Amino acid sequence: MMQAESMDICMYQNINNMTTINEQQKIVLVTGGSRGIGRSIALNAAKRGLGVILTYNNQAQSAQEVINEIITSGGKAVSLQLDTGNIPSFVEFVKQVALTLRRDWNRENFDYLINNAGIGQRSLIQDTTEEIFDELVNINLKGVFFLTKNLIPLIVDGGQIINISSGLARFAFPGSAVYGALKAALEGLTRYFAKEYAIRKIRVNSVAPGAIDTEFGGGKGNEEHRNQIASATALGRLGVADDIGLFVASMLSDDSRFVNAQRIEIGGGIMI
Ligand SMILES: NC(=O)c1ccc[n+]([C@@H]2O[C@H](COP(=O)([O-])OP(=O)(O)OC[C@H]3O[C@@H](n4cnc5c(N)ncnc54)[C@H](OP(=O)(O)O)[C@@H]3O)[C@@H](O)[C@H]2O)c1
Repeated sequence: MMQAESMDICMYQNINNMTTINEQQKIVLVTGGSRGIGRSIALNAAKRGLGVILTYNNQAQSAQEVINEIITSGGKAVSLQLDTGNIPSFVEFVKQVALTLRRDWNRENFDYLINNAGIGQRSLIQDTTEEIFDELVNINLKGVFFLTKNLIPLIVDGGQIINISSGLARFAFPGSAVYGALKAALEGLTRYFAKEYAIRKIRVNSVAPGAIDTEFGGGKGNEEHRNQIASATALGRLGVADDIGLFVASMLSDDSRFVNAQRIEIGGGIMI
């Protein structure tokens, strides 16, 4: 067999299925990949042989643990700090991504963007201040719009963007008015990005998790609340991060090549 160095390709081995693949490694950028759903997306994408750039906001240590897990399993991953609510910082962030691609993959672009980072809301409409509203807008919608706009020149033609939405874009629970409305807006943006970037054959979809047992918004509460959610779910349980991570990672190939501008709910049949 030819040596990898002489083939001008990235040759790597997926330790999990021991398959050697002779092609350029696909790269996914996952925002909020340090914990919860984003962590699971990053780990499952790496298991499928993808290179991973993940971002964290405050929890550098959690991000490093994900990176270590991927590297220990024979994968390739890098973490970068990013606050998706800090729009002026995106110009510098894009430079960091470009540098990372060149330094670690000898590439000028990447293949898949997962807009996963987000924060939750636990306030009734009457208690929602302008400050809470603006923070939710900045991180969960405005940041996603401008980050995607800034990163899209680095995404390959024929690449893919997945926006992590929420079941709460479809159904309502008290305390999530702004959050749910912003996720609905994100699903709208998904279709517009799909429309405008079709010229570059970039597919854009949103994945809407149901109730997933992570630290999001302070977690899923006490036993009674968790039982209520489980009984509102056809499959009778809360989701776990891997329920989403496994699915999103499975989208990151040409197997999903004709799926575009869609909202896909992964919630075990919640609120049907
Ligand atoms: N869990 C659910 O039930 C559920 C349901 C539907 C949709 N979702 C959506 O799924 C996505 C991930 O949620 P999760 O459950 O995995 O939440 P999580 O466990 O709280 O993790 C949130 C992730 O986002 C990052 N993050 C938070 N604020 C950020 C900011 N301002 N800038 C950049 N990154 C930031 C965090 O980084 P640090 O680690 O550095 O803090 C962390 O990596 C969110 O978009 C959420 O709306 C979740």
